[in-house]
Amino acid sequence: MNPYDVTPYIDLSYVATHPNRLATMARFLGKQPAPVEACRVLEIGCAAGGNLLPMAYGLPRAEFVGIDYSARQIEEGKQRIAALGLNNVQLICADLVEIDASMEAALGTFDYFVAHGVYSWTPPQVRDALLALCKRVLRPHGVAYISYNTYPGWHTLGLVRDAMMYHSRNAASPEEQAVQGREMASFLAHHANDGIHKEIFRHYVELLNKDLKGTDNSFLLHDELSEVNDPVYFYQFVDHIGQHGLQYLIEADLRTVLPLSFTAGTQSALQEMAKDAIDLEQKMDFLRNQMFRQTLVCHTEVPVARRIQPHALMGGWLRSQAKRTTMDATAQRPGVVQFSSKDEATLATDHPLSVAAMEILAKAWPRALRYDDLLAEARQVVGIRGGSGELDGRQEEMALVSTLLRACGQSPQLVEVNSFHPQLVTTVSAQPVASRMARFEAQTRSIVTNLWHERVTLLPVQQSLLRFLDGDHSLADVAALLGNSVTDAELDEHLRWFAYAALLVA
Ligand SMILES: C[S@@+](CC[C@H](N)C(=O)[O-])C[C@H]1O[C@@H](n2cnc3c(N)ncnc32)[C@H](O)[C@@H]1O
Repeated sequence: MNPYDVTPYIDLSYVATHPNRLATMARFLGKQPAPVEACRVLEIGCAAGGNLLPMAYGLPRAEFVGIDYSARQIEEGKQRIAALGLNNVQLICADLVEIDASMEAALGTFDYFVAHGVYSWTPPQVRDALLALCKRVLRPHGVAYISYNTYPGWHTLGLVRDAMMYHSRNAASPEEQAVQGREMASFLAHHANDGIHKEIFRHYVELLNKDLKGTDNSFLLHDELSEVNDPVYFYQFVDHIGQHGLQYLIEADLRTVLPLSFTAGTQSALQEMAKDAIDLEQKMDFLRNQMFRQTLVCHTEVPVARRIQPHALMGGWLRSQAKRTTMDATAQRPGVVQFSSKDEATLATDHPLSVAAMEILAKAWPRALRYDDLLAEARQVVGIRGGSGELDGRQEEMALVSTLLRACGQSPQLVEVNSFHPQLVTTVSAQPVASRMARFEAQTRSIVTNLWHERVTLLPVQQSLLRFLDGDHSLADVAALLGNSVTDAELDEHLRWFAYAALLVA
């Protein structure tokens, strides 16, 4: 029986697979991908649509097709589509190895192709079928996203996987396999001889008990305990796609591409060691013990110059959730201002235009600002006269672009470039409306998808509250529906947090 029919996948949204991210990353290399608002997207291995449906909801003029061979998940997804009344997404139950010419003709071609959690989780013939399909259905300037587990990181995790697989080899059911797998991991963490591998086991058990992996067995069963889990090195993946007429474009996460997490000494040693861009990234993978990649791919026929183009940033929508923070006393220098994001990335700058821009972005959150608007506002703040013809103005602007780019390369939470802007509101009206998608998700779970396609975790009271925000209820109605268990001040705080979390619509 199909293991995904027995244990469906957890089925969440992945921000890095959204056409917004794919378009933005392609634009960083000077490409002109299809406009996000009116594109066609194919997702292979879409499960029950946890990723595709929120995209379809947020981009009503775009068209989405999902394919998965698990009948149970596809059926569940179809029911969700009907319940949500979405008319721009269809799910098809099919084995990707068996997609024939007539089905392919009916599918048409796509601007964006997404396969998250499929490539290294399937046997070689399925991987080949995946890449061959991608080559055939991807439009000439299309962008494909393919994620996979990688070496060297999975050598370490593979050690734990081997032990867990061994201990659970006779389990009678997936539940039992998960229990035995967890049991083995914690046995290793407690009883292994002291040394480097004990540290690895300990670290792994921490990860295993953290977040969703700690509570949901489907991750574990379809990853560490999956029958097929064949990580590859990045360079091997690049060779493999090359055999199918595809080539490496860029990663979905700029941090993987840029060496900004390394010291200046390591960065220059890397530059000396690296023969080309792919070799550089492979060597960074060795240094970082990379475990997972989210690689963007395009047709071999498309010329690719792998150099980040600042103009991409200047044509995009910019967003930042970083706040101004106090610097460590030892690092303090006059005039230098520091901004930090929740993921502990920091940006320190003494450039007044950049400082003003970061403050303006922080105020605008969760909205993004057009680069031109941001520049004009920041210039106003620091009193610099606009006009790109002026030398000073241009130099100032280039310094701003370079600071923002440095921030992007460190963390999307510091600065994120986008290729579209969702329809969200930042104020709480008398009868607030939450995203229909998020309200629907909140019926069954605490993790919902916001209008930027990001995951947001709700407190139990917020999960109940969100579901009542359909525009038909006043704040007094909502309080009554919650059994008057929250005070007016608490209600106000939750609603303002929903706005901040990009969950409210007009
Ligand atoms: C690890 S899950 C990932 C699901 C989803 N993309 C995600 O990341 O949340 C892999 C998915 O690929 C589907 N799949 C695996 N082999 C397939 C094949 N040969 N044809 C179609 N779907 C397949 C499974 O049913 C499953 O839903």
